Amino acid sequence: MEAVVGLILLLLRVSQGVETYCDGRQDRAQCYGALGGTVDVQLMTSALVLARYWWNENRTVILDGIKTRIMSNLLEDRSSFTPSNGTFRITNLSRNDSGEYQLEAIDLDGNIERRTLHLTIQAPVGSVLLLSECLSEGQMRASCSSEGGDSPQYSWTLDGHTLTHAELLSGNNETNSITLKQHVSGRLLCSVRNQVSRVSREETITDCDRSLLICGVRAAVGVLLLICITAYFAWKKANSNKTEGSAVAGTREHPENSVLMVEL
Ligand SMILES: *[C@@H]1O[C@H](CO)[C@@H](O)[C@H](O)[C@H]1NC(C)=O
Ligand SMILES: *[C@@H]1O[C@H](CO)[C@@H](O)[C@H](O)[C@H]1NC(C)=O
Ligand SMILES: *[C@@H]1O[C@H](CO)[C@@H](O)[C@H](O)[C@H]1NC(C)=O
Ligand SMILES: *[C@@H]1O[C@H](CO)[C@@H](O)[C@H](O)[C@H]1NC(C)=O
Ligand SMILES: *[C@@H]1O[C@H](CO)[C@@H](O)[C@H](O)[C@H]1NC(C)=O
Repeated sequence: MEAVVGLILLLLRVSQGVETYCDGRQDRAQCYGALGGTVDVQLMTSALVLARYWWNENRTVILDGIKTRIMSNLLEDRSSFTPSNGTFRITNLSRNDSGEYQLEAIDLDGNIERRTLHLTIQAPVGSVLLLSECLSEGQMRASCSSEGGDSPQYSWTLDGHTLTHAELLSGNNETNSITLKQHVSGRLLCSVRNQVSRVSREETITDCDRSLLICGVRAAVGVLLLICITAYFAWKKANSNKTEGSAVAGTREHPENSVLMVEL
């Protein structure tokens, strides 16, 4: 129970911790924010040189200001605007914050400027799972899956370099499942990213033929060990039965009968 609570708190902290920045000073900027996270949108270089500015979403005025004076801020409880550097910080982002925003600004000379930006809220990538299995002919299939993230994109490296055609049998460096040729080994890394997060998982892979051999040897040793143990216990049991049998029956002539007697 405590572990679960701890995990939830950790996840909350992680998702609250995702901060993104977006430069909205160019028209039609594409911005990204993490679900539950914080985004810093730079609306302008400075609000000090503006006579008036409005930031709207879908015709709803979110922010209305004159130089350093904020007339209204619809997101007051989870945002802050810094006029000196024109940055609007929104915390605790929800999917509802996704959308198209318009800025309308009138400078001190009376020039009007209009810009739009698009904000997309994405859930950060949660955990990543990397599975590998040997195929019959010594090739290896590796698949990577992720949990939680919107629009996950996959990429792979082996010992830090992008996978080459010499190593890849199928798939490419951007699919979530790949097949590696025979005798490929090293540190295989799968990275899953979207616009607000990146999580990776690494696994050391060994030559499948060799690992099959190692598995075979291990299995053989295991079986041998099992036989030895079984034989030992069988021998021990027979021996102790003999002793008990002799104590009960007082004879060593017919061990089979003794065993039967004790078991009865
Ligand atoms: C935006 O406004 C239109 C109508 O003006 C409405 O149909 C739509 O649902 C609104 N979208 C959001 C995200 O509020
Ligand atoms: C703007 O100012 C605020 C408050 O001082 C600061 O937290 C933020 O990092 C600044 N942003 C930029 C883009 O300079
Ligand atoms: C974040 O927003 C959700 C609803 O969207 C709310 O339930 C939660 O209390 C908020 N968290 C914080 C820390 O403001
Ligand atoms: C999202 O928007 C819908 C309708 O516009 C509203 O009912 C809902 O409460 C909003 N959720 C949050 C977390 O703001
Ligand atoms: C995948 O490989 C192609 C060509 O080798 C390269 O252009 C691209 O940047 C790679 N993608 C990633 C995510 O590494």
